[in-house]
Parts: sequence; C-alpha cells; structure tokens
Amino acid sequence: MNPVRTIDTALIGLGNVNRNFLRILEMKEAELAQRYGLAFRVVCVADSSGVAVNPAGFDPAATRQAKEAGHPVRTLPGFVAGASPAEVLATLACDLVLEASPVDLTTGEPGLGVTRATLARGIPVVLANKGPLVLAYRELHDLAASTGAGLAFSATVCGALPVINIGRRDLIAAEIQSLRGIFNATTNFILAEMATGRSYADALAEAQRRGIAETDPTLDVEGWDTANKLVIVANSVLGIDAALADVSVTGITGVTAEHLEAEEASGSTIKLLASAERRGDGYALVVKPTVVASDSFLGQCNGWEMGIEIQSDLYGRMYHKIWEREPLPTAAAMLRDAVNLLRG
Ligand SMILES: NC(=O)c1ccc[n+]([C@@H]2O[C@H](COP(=O)([O-])OP(=O)(O)OC[C@H]3O[C@@H](n4cnc5c(N)ncnc54)[C@H](OP(=O)(O)O)[C@@H]3O)[C@@H](O)[C@H]2O)c1
Repeated sequence: MNPVRTIDTALIGLGNVNRNFLRILEMKEAELAQRYGLAFRVVCVADSSGVAVNPAGFDPAATRQAKEAGHPVRTLPGFVAGASPAEVLATLACDLVLEASPVDLTTGEPGLGVTRATLARGIPVVLANKGPLVLAYRELHDLAASTGAGLAFSATVCGALPVINIGRRDLIAAEIQSLRGIFNATTNFILAEMATGRSYADALAEAQRRGIAETDPTLDVEGWDTANKLVIVANSVLGIDAALADVSVTGITGVTAEHLEAEEASGSTIKLLASAERRGDGYALVVKPTVVASDSFLGQCNGWEMGIEIQSDLYGRMYHKIWEREPLPTAAAMLRDAVNLLRG
C-alpha cells in the first residue's frame, strides 16, 4: 500500500458542486488512500456568509449535512469574522484549493482573487468556476508558471466530460481545423422540449421547475455560458488568446417552436452550437442556434447530454459525449484534476 499523504484542502463555495465533492470524500476515502496515497483534509470552507478554518479538518459528512440543513459557514466553529476567502488564503497553511463559487463576469470575484492569492503562493488550484479563466486566462497561466503551481479546470467545460484534458493532453502535435459542441445542457433541454411543440416560455418554465435553469437564466439562454466555455477551450486547447469579445454570440431566445417543428419535419433539428473554425492563423469563434441533421452526432445529443466533435489534421474526427443530470460528475472532475495535479 502507498504511504498516505494528507492534503490540506480549502473549498471555496459550498453549493451543489463542492457539497458533492464532500460527498465523494465520504464515499471514496479508502480508494483515494489505497490507489493514490492521498487523504484530503478539509481545513477551510467558504460560502456567501464567510470563511471558516479548522487546521484539524472539518468532518466532510457533518459539514455537508449542516450546510444542507441550512446552516451557513458563519455558524461553524473556526469562522473568521470579516475576512474574504482571498484574504484567508493569502496566509492559510494548505496544499490545494477547489474553487466553486458563482461566475461573475464583471469582477471575477470571489474566484479571481482566490485564484491569484493561491497561485501566487505556489499552491495548486482547481476551478469549476469559469469566471476567472474567461476574464484572465493568460494572467493566471503566467502566474502559475512563474510560481510552479498547478492550475486545472476540466470541470469548467461540459461538466465531467474531459474535453480540456483530451484537447491538451491527447492531441499531441495536431492542428485542430474545427470543433463544434453543445456545451450547455439547460438550453439543450429547452430546445428538445420546444421540438415537441412547446413554446419557448413554457419550455423555460419546465426547465426552471425541474431545477435545471437558474431563476435568472440569461447566461444560459442568451448563449453566454456557452461562449464562456468556448473562450476557455480557445485559450487552453486551440492555444489562442481569446476573450468573450472575440466570440459572435446569439442565444436561443429567437428560436420558435414553429422553426423547430419545420426542421424536425425535414430530418433536421436546431442546437445551440459553439464552433471554432480555422481562419488563417486564428479561429472564427461563434455561438448560435444551428441547424444539424437529426441523425448526426450533435443532432443526437439530446436533453441532458453535451458533446463535442473535433476535426484535426492528425487524429481524424473525434466525437465525445456525456450524459450528466446532477453535479456529482462535475465534482468528480474536480477530484480528477486534483489527483492529477498532486501526482505531478
Ligand atoms: N452545478 C454544476 O453542475 C456545474 C457544472 C460545471 C461548473 N459549475 C460551476 O461551478 C460553480 C459552482 O456551481 P454550483 O452549482 O455549486 O453553484 P451554487 O450551488 O450556486 O453554489 C455556489 C456557492 O458559492 C457560494 N458563494 C457565493 N458567493 C460567495 C463568496 N463571495 N465567497 C465564497 N462563497 C460564495 C455560495 O454560498 P451560499 O451557499 O451561501 O449561497 C454557494 O455555496 C459555478 O461557477 C458554476 O458555474 C457548476
């Protein structure tokens, strides 16, 4: 058996994703020790009420259950009054930070400050939050390179589908000529409902009723969540310095049930696609509702599924797809990133 290394871990955000990370620690403690020689000790947690620190480690099950029972972090022993997560992480003794707070495309906070403070100290960061990467991809990578800290974010695009890992690790020496993907399950669900004749408003209400769509669904239905993911793929996989302003974005609010029904009648359907097409030295980056054949790979990505097809000069045409209906796989993607970073 491997000697077991204790990894002092900070969880920023205790919502769906990081609570599922705690659940995985409860489920997989023995496997993580036996297979990877790792024991994750949660020494810091943060939510919108503040930050708490316990060098001896918070119990994963008790912490998750307390949060699920409605007790915010400020009620935990070790609550640090008046401090932001970035301020605490500037000095906290820890080995790893998992950042899963909400996307903020204006300031990037609290994720951006957390990521900067942690990478600056040479401590690895795993992100589920896209905001810091969309706003400051190059800066964060340069910072990580200068301090030797690992930075991983495979959970930011298509949940647990390892799009980023495949693109960065497995397409050695390839030139990607084009990629097209369905990166947002909420809009995919709404379009699928509309294809059965429901109106946009009805389909959106159904998605909200099922808890898939946010109360404010703007980021999803206007295409910005998909565009965020395309920016991350463009920087990390295509190797270009791209920002949101470089993406032409059209959401699904203009698609009608009549459009969809007409396409379905002729063997096609409409999907909200992200695409990158090689143009000279760069790529044209587009997010828009697109007609695809119903029996094509992307036409067959339905409801809870997300997928991507990648055409490159060396590796043919690849197709990858995931079915993901709850945040457990996304939390597992953060664990995957953490283990890979810690194994070096
Ligand atoms: N859910 C998914 O399947 C999924 C998949 C891929 C990526 N992501 C990304 O992962 C991140 C987390 O998603 P989620 O579903 O877990 O979101 P969530 O359920 O809304 O949880 C967000 C958490 O962040 C906390 N928070 C808010 N402001 C904060 C602040 N200033 N400082 C510290 N914590 C703060 C919230 O606190 P309260 O608990 O007090 O509200 C909550 O615990 C998001 O960026 C999301 O886009 C999610």
